Amino acid sequence: MKRDEALKRIAKLREIIDYHNRRYYQQDDPEISDAKYDELMRELQNLEELFPDDGLASSPTQRVGAAPLAKFSPFEHPRPMLSLANAFTPEEITDFDARIRRMADLDRMEYVAEPKLDGLAVNLIYEHGLFVRGATRGDGATGEDITQNLRTIPSLPLEMKKSGAHPVPDFIEVRGEVYMERASFGKLNHRRAVDGEEPFANPRNAAAGSLRQLDPKITARRPLSIFVYGAGLLKGMQFSTHFGILEALRQWGFPVNHLIEKADDISACIAYFGRISSLRPELPYEIDGVVLKVNDLTVQEVLGSVSRSPRWALACKFPAAQATTLIRDIVVQVGRMGTLTPVAVMEPVNVGGVMVSRATLHNEDEIRKKDIRIGDTVVIQRAGDVIPEVVSVVTSRRTGEEKFFYMPSHCPECGSNVVRLEGEAAHRCVNLSCPAQIKEHIRHFASRDAMDIDGLGEKVAASLFDAGLIADPADLYFLTEEKLLPLERMAQKSVSNLLDSIQMSKTPAWDKFIFALGIRHVGEKTARLLAQHFAGIDELMGADVEDLTQIKEIGPEIAHSIVGFFSEPKNREVIDKFLRAGISPLVQRQRKDRPLDGKYFVFTGTLETLGRNEAKTLVQELGGTVQSSVGGKTSFVVAGASPGSKLEQARNRAVAVITEKEFLKLTGRDKS
Ligand code: IVH
Repeated sequence: MKRDEALKRIAKLREIIDYHNRRYYQQDDPEISDAKYDELMRELQNLEELFPDDGLASSPTQRVGAAPLAKFSPFEHPRPMLSLANAFTPEEITDFDARIRRMADLDRMEYVAEPKLDGLAVNLIYEHGLFVRGATRGDGATGEDITQNLRTIPSLPLEMKKSGAHPVPDFIEVRGEVYMERASFGKLNHRRAVDGEEPFANPRNAAAGSLRQLDPKITARRPLSIFVYGAGLLKGMQFSTHFGILEALRQWGFPVNHLIEKADDISACIAYFGRISSLRPELPYEIDGVVLKVNDLTVQEVLGSVSRSPRWALACKFPAAQATTLIRDIVVQVGRMGTLTPVAVMEPVNVGGVMVSRATLHNEDEIRKKDIRIGDTVVIQRAGDVIPEVVSVVTSRRTGEEKFFYMPSHCPECGSNVVRLEGEAAHRCVNLSCPAQIKEHIRHFASRDAMDIDGLGEKVAASLFDAGLIADPADLYFLTEEKLLPLERMAQKSVSNLLDSIQMSKTPAWDKFIFALGIRHVGEKTARLLAQHFAGIDELMGADVEDLTQIKEIGPEIAHSIVGFFSEPKNREVIDKFLRAGISPLVQRQRKDRPLDGKYFVFTGTLETLGRNEAKTLVQELGGTVQSSVGGKTSFVVAGASPGSKLEQARNRAVAVITEKEFLKLTGRDKS
């Protein structure tokens, strides 16, 4: 075959295959047999090998076809993926505007107003115009590499269009949201019901579940779409406004939402919020609010960010979805710290698209305060991913048959005494080896956001514990096929899957490992902070309360809890066992944008350009620590006008004294 003839055939085949892909994957209505489809695909692959051309990157041969993965690899975002501060009322929106105008010294701020899509944030990397990698947001610093799955989304360009006013950049991180249209979601759930599969609760869960499939062929069959709304790291070109970036993204062939508008000032933003709220029910996809972003990129830079959210953007959320239902019973759950939590068991009800049958009642005080009784009709609400809550009781529906609820005096799991410590709202089971606590602790350890051990949910954790095979999470790593096979409902396949997942969890990310330990008050956020400040388990175990409270956002309560945890001999034993089992957390290299890591600063005197709090925040954001007095650890004393006795202390201890300008150089803020 001649080259030009081959190229014509290649173009034709791509068109035909794209058409059949849509019929099969998107419309679920194939026209040709699998064999015929495979034949077309093979013909195209052969021709592409013999006659490579420019269109290869966006050919259907590049979309589906990758082999299933065993596990997603971690992906470190070149620029962190930040989240957004929330506002729920017009006052909060105008406060935000006033605050940032004051900081930027502007009478009027121009914004870009965008719908807030309710899907899953993704980061897409394009090098020289080609889609090379894509990842989930993860914790903002590191996500999961889901390149193969993203490739299957028909509206995601595999190659950026070269036409238009903007040349293609050498490197760009494109940020966007993967979502599922409501109608496609309905069809997908219908098909799942016919196939006897669990339906997805809402389009967002369906999109998330589909993107996290290890087999890209399954993702390809899910009707996913994407909108992009910004850029991260960009090399080889510059923009002056956010709106300019969106226009360029559109020209490069990315799907940019059509409802995005420039807004002259904050009152135009509030009007936009009103318009989008009334459009919301008619949109083919779900949104949960409106995002406002400062348009001028220089102003964005001046404003900067605080603790993971930029100061220049705001999510204006729609009010939480509410529904009315009946409380059938109130049961008590025992958590991993022994806390007894009352939970309302309700008539199932649809709240904003999700069926809900349980709501947390927090503690006994909360029940009394809201006067919740068994048999009451209540208003419940669900905001985002938060566990549903009871807002109020519809007292007019009371019949007199309702029953009061009292916290049990004995643990419903082990029968031990229940106590309520002074100053605490919670009731606790006193038995440290309460089976419910241990089971819950093991379930937490294995959960998705901790060690991510597939197949080790509540039921399996409980049956392993009940069979006496494990008494703590470290025992998981000493399980064998011989021990597991005799268990009920444990066939050869599930045993080997479970053992594989346990093996695979042996190299967790350092912060996930800390979170998995289940230290009281150490949630995911604190675990991330600790992971950034301590280079390994020995350092963390050796930290005292003072070291810990040096970290911004770690107060004495958390610090005591951490120190207490590691001083408990039983916990040290478990950690030893982890090490013997070969668990080695992957300690991330320090981020490049933390130039003050490990450095301690003391400020004295009046600074010229920075306020004291501002200086403190800057140090902390860049990884350093601010001390109130000069000590052995102090790296620098920053001296402003009329310095106090700290200057003297610095000289006595031979600590370096620097000016504000020198300090700003260290932070990278002063380039002169
Ligand atoms: S901008 C620094 N724009 O909302 C700005 N986010 O809470 C970061 N989202 O993780 C995001 N629509 O998943 C932005 N038009 C939009 C958005 C949007 C939805 C999501 C995104 C992000 C979350 C932030």
